[in-house]
Amino acid sequence: MVSRVIPVDPFDLVVFGATGDLANRKILPGLYRRFFSGQIPEGARIIGAARTEMDTAAFRAHARAAIDEHVGAGKRDAAQIEAFLSILEYVPIDAMGEGGWNELKALVRPHLINAFYFSVAPALFGPLAERLHAFGIATSQARIVVEKPFGRDLASAKVLNTTLAEHFDETQIYRIDHYLGKETVQNLMAVRFANILFEPLWNAQFVDHVQITVAETVGVGGRGSYYDKSGAMRDMVQNHLMQLLCLIAMEPPYHFDPDAVRDEKLKVIRALQPVSAADIVRGQYLAHRSDDGKGHQPGYLEDAENPDSRTESYIALRVHVANWRWKGTPFYLRTGKRLRARTSEIAITFKEPPHSIFDEADETWRENVLVIRLQPNEGMNLKMMIKEPGPGGMRLVQVPLDMSFAEALGEDGADIPDAYERLIMDVIRGNQTLFMRGDEVEAAWAWTDPIIEGWTARGDRPQGYDAGSSGPEDALMLMHRDGRRWREIRE
Ligand SMILES: NC(=O)c1ccc[n+]([C@@H]2O[C@H](COP(=O)([O-])OP(=O)(O)OC[C@H]3O[C@@H](n4cnc5c(N)ncnc54)[C@H](OP(=O)(O)O)[C@@H]3O)[C@@H](O)[C@H]2O)c1
Repeated sequence: MVSRVIPVDPFDLVVFGATGDLANRKILPGLYRRFFSGQIPEGARIIGAARTEMDTAAFRAHARAAIDEHVGAGKRDAAQIEAFLSILEYVPIDAMGEGGWNELKALVRPHLINAFYFSVAPALFGPLAERLHAFGIATSQARIVVEKPFGRDLASAKVLNTTLAEHFDETQIYRIDHYLGKETVQNLMAVRFANILFEPLWNAQFVDHVQITVAETVGVGGRGSYYDKSGAMRDMVQNHLMQLLCLIAMEPPYHFDPDAVRDEKLKVIRALQPVSAADIVRGQYLAHRSDDGKGHQPGYLEDAENPDSRTESYIALRVHVANWRWKGTPFYLRTGKRLRARTSEIAITFKEPPHSIFDEADETWRENVLVIRLQPNEGMNLKMMIKEPGPGGMRLVQVPLDMSFAEALGEDGADIPDAYERLIMDVIRGNQTLFMRGDEVEAAWAWTDPIIEGWTARGDRPQGYDAGSSGPEDALMLMHRDGRRWREIRE
């Protein structure tokens, strides 16, 4: 299979927060990988900006270090790295100050595509938007990219939307949810809407339930006191898990067009029912002694530096989408830190055939399950019942029809671009399909807020769970009482 890299048009991309963690780990290495693949055309320029005083030479050295650390050896070509570094510039700017903006203006060429990536704390989104306008840097064609978190509730998200809308049209605003940039997530749309196979079965009549799991092995570590102000519901469910849910539950859009896709996702969010207390389990990981010689590993309360914290590092929810297609099919969502394995997957469990013609013991029987793996090893598998090979009569066994993208697509599959690479190139192309629209974000908070307000008003305490486990005991019960069980968390 031949890789098709279509170069984008020349652009000036300004990265605010260019000295930060995200720029260092994802944005700069990702841009280099796109350059290496030939997608970034001659004449393009990437301008870093942050408060740190340094010149362009020092910024290039900084970018070189980021590439050395975060790009695989196979793509680290000395000549290519030099060529990439030569398109980088740097301007010291304080988002809250007045210095540096005229220097930036002198660098940004308004006749090209202009994009401004706000890889800074959300409190700076407004000041950046204002100054880009006040100094006459952003044209009516310019694009801005904003990072998560987009607000911490409906009220703050509305303020943010209003502030950005004072200076930019919705068609210029790209709200990143990097889960949407993952290859498998987009493939979910291809599988659903480019094949006839699944769509007729994609409803409550045939789907028993859906599980969405995003599990991490790491704790909150040094980010503890910051994380303690948000928790798993705000940090993961309101954005990433809800976006995945939308792509599974949405109706076919009339066209693969940004607003058509986002209209359908919005309808799903609006159809989400309020979640009752009995359908929510929250947890905090407990301290443990590590086997690998690291000794005492702090629990959540210690990491958060808040012994009274009621913030959850784990959450499981049973969610209902109240519409014709999904009435009666529960969606079980769970995400947490310090769990058994690092894995993200969506599992769609189909109902059993209405009548079995085989004399099979019940425990042999397994439903068809379509598993979409986001990480590790992006791919899909479909669990099917077949006859166990051999002369022993008609015995059934469940086997996976497995498709690992890396294996199925050969070299191209192994070369799946990182979500950030894909999303930044979409910004340059002006394609908003994989970015959240303002009304979508607000609708997501409108659903999330009462859930958080509910447990706050009740004074609920998260349940402790063992580090390296699958989460709190009550989360198992959430499914057991429905006669179902969670899939095992494993890599
Ligand atoms: N890191 C991740 O994995 C990740 C994942 C998802 C979302 N995000 C989001 O991405 C954004 C950036 O995160 P990060 O982890 O890169 O944060 P970070 O490591 O703290 O970096 C913040 C960046 O902002 C710059 N900055 C701070 N105050 C500034 C000001 N007044 N004017 C101009 N620049 C300023 C800092 O540089 P100076 O100190 O030199 O000014 C630095 O470059 C945040 O909104 C975060 O929530 C990050």
